[in-house]
Amino acid sequence: MHMHKFEKIWLIFGITCLIFFLSVVGVSAFYLGNKPPSCLTTVNSEKVDKTKPFDKPGLHKVEGKDWDYELVYVAQAFSYNPAQVKVPLGAKVRVIATTKDVVHGFEVAGTNINMMLEPGYVSEYTTTFDKAGEYLIVCNEYCGAGHHLMSSKIEVVE
Ligand code: CUA
Repeated sequence: MHMHKFEKIWLIFGITCLIFFLSVVGVSAFYLGNKPPSCLTTVNSEKVDKTKPFDKPGLHKVEGKDWDYELVYVAQAFSYNPAQVKVPLGAKVRVIATTKDVVHGFEVAGTNINMMLEPGYVSEYTTTFDKAGEYLIVCNEYCGAGHHLMSSKIEVVE
């Protein structure tokens, strides 16, 4: 079969691109361990207050896990529970959050924590707070008339 030179170049270019992009995805997933947010964990959004761990929002020390603390948040229009929390400096914290009503955001300003909280799903993120100070949590998904009032605070203390 005869192939034009340009056709060959184009095919090689296309296949090289394909292999390159698949390698990027592969390295990111299997070597760096990146994965989509934990949409696999579900919760009955009508029974959030009675479902563990959301029956006790706040910071809890845990044993035998890859992290030292679990920081549990319940979001609803237009607040987060807890409204303020103190976290020890350098602690490895698993943030676990969900919403009781509509979609809310969960962005911790000045960090790379930025989750979407969807009704019926649990959003989780593990991080280490290694800089003392106050961190503002804001809702970055428009959720209604009080959206701009929706915030919470993390205080990282020594
Ligand atoms: Cu909650 Cu915007």
